[in-house]
Amino acid sequence: MGVLLIPRLTLTLTIISLFIFLSRSSSQEILINNAERRIDLSTHIVKVFFTLKVENIGTNAVSEILLAFPPTQADHLAFVEALATTGKRKKKTYVPLVVKPTELPDAPNETKYFSISLVNPLNSGDTTTLEVLYVFTHSLEPFPMEISQSESQLVYYRDSALILSPYHIKQQTTFIKTPTTKVESFTRLDPTNRAGTEMKYGPYEDQPPYSYSPIIVHCENNNPFAVVEELVREVEISHWGSIQITEHYKLVHAGARHKGIFSRVEYQSRPSFSGVSSFKHLLARLPPRVHSVYYRDEIGNISSSHLRTDSQKSDLEIEPRYPLFGGWKATFIIGYGVPLQDFLFESPDGRRYLNFTFGCPLAESVVDKLTIKVVLPEGSKDPSAVVTFPVEQHLETKYSYLDVVGRTVVVLEKKNVVPMHNTVFQVYYTFNPIFMLAEPLMLTSVFFLFFVACVAYLHIDLSIRK
Ligand SMILES: *[C@@H]1O[C@H](CO)[C@@H](O)[C@H](O)[C@H]1NC(C)=O
Ligand SMILES: *[C@@H]1O[C@H](CO)[C@@H](O)[C@H](O)[C@H]1NC(C)=O
Ligand SMILES: *[C@@H]1O[C@H](CO)[C@@H](O)[C@H](O)[C@H]1NC(C)=O
Repeated sequence: MGVLLIPRLTLTLTIISLFIFLSRSSSQEILINNAERRIDLSTHIVKVFFTLKVENIGTNAVSEILLAFPPTQADHLAFVEALATTGKRKKKTYVPLVVKPTELPDAPNETKYFSISLVNPLNSGDTTTLEVLYVFTHSLEPFPMEISQSESQLVYYRDSALILSPYHIKQQTTFIKTPTTKVESFTRLDPTNRAGTEMKYGPYEDQPPYSYSPIIVHCENNNPFAVVEELVREVEISHWGSIQITEHYKLVHAGARHKGIFSRVEYQSRPSFSGVSSFKHLLARLPPRVHSVYYRDEIGNISSSHLRTDSQKSDLEIEPRYPLFGGWKATFIIGYGVPLQDFLFESPDGRRYLNFTFGCPLAESVVDKLTIKVVLPEGSKDPSAVVTFPVEQHLETKYSYLDVVGRTVVVLEKKNVVPMHNTVFQVYYTFNPIFMLAEPLMLTSVFFLFFVACVAYLHIDLSIRK
């Protein structure tokens, strides 16, 4: 019996692994006819726009396409988005596709993968065009690592001239856009051309799977390397008319470290030469109809901020007490209120929900660690958050001075946040309107107790005098 069982088990396992192999073997079934990659190095956030025309040259339908990244890039990958395009030119339509990290059993050189799920499987002989956007943070390495006030900032960018892919690529071209025309050096892999702020690698023909050819670009980049090491945004809902937002920032200039002394005289008299990589203004994009805006640091209120509002947004321009040079930090708080009716709604099933923006209001910034705390009104129940990308979630309780049972706080946490994460999220909850009376009731009872205490005191006082 046992002797018979083992071969049968092995056979079953073989069939299972064969099946897994078949459904995964798409790398032989997919051919990339044409791939174009545009790498934008114009800020400190590296954006890659990747267009690929894929063809199913196998016999079975294929429902997922793989994207490959070397492990060092995968560590800095903040965002991936894929769209399927159909139609040409003006009639082009885009269909968003689901992209998920995935693993392959024999990934060469620890390649990391993402799989794009096609809406309709690609049948044998069919082609489709995909547009992918991916974003890297902390991928421009300042070199020299330290610069003085009068020097411009130079950075290294490392990549491969050939696109890393598990598929054969028939023809490919990579364009790299530099912030300025000042390029110290770049690796050549013929054909390579450079004109103005653009470098062109390719076209390269018939590259087999996992082709790789490292390149280094050394170029000038004086854009603000604004990195918020930690951002905590507290969104407090009061059913009495307003939502109060308090944001705690720990900001650092993540570019080349400043060396030598800082001369404010030189900085102010020669602004186009001195401290070109430093920044002294920051733009925070807040919702329209904000009120009670403040901006303060550990010393106190900073009055040098300007608020411009229109019907779409409010732009708050803030100025830290000193300009930020490489390695310098600033800690500050921005607070504001927004009308309840702009962000709090009732869903068809009777629950209430907050519809608010995720991410960081500071323009073109990277947040290493973001925490959003949504403080629900007292008496709220069954909270649930809806975010379109993975975040860590947990609940806390917060007590403020008039609370009876405390408030539920929905805590959302995410690392490596870029402006592409500034999309809406929702927090749903149920609420018993009887709790609307809790605060006034507390106020009245506090007042009443105070009154009783006064009367009692007077009474004792009077009886003693008698
Ligand atoms: C893995 O990396 C080594 C050295 O970096 C390279 O020579 C080799 O071709 C790579 N292997 C594959 C399958 O890409
Ligand atoms: C700071 O500004 C806020 C809002 O304008 C105000 O309520 C607060 O009293 C100010 N604090 C100080 C210390 O000036
Ligand atoms: C949330 O607000 C955005 C606009 O700010 C709107 O497009 C979206 O439909 C809203 N979502 C929900 C679930 O109400």
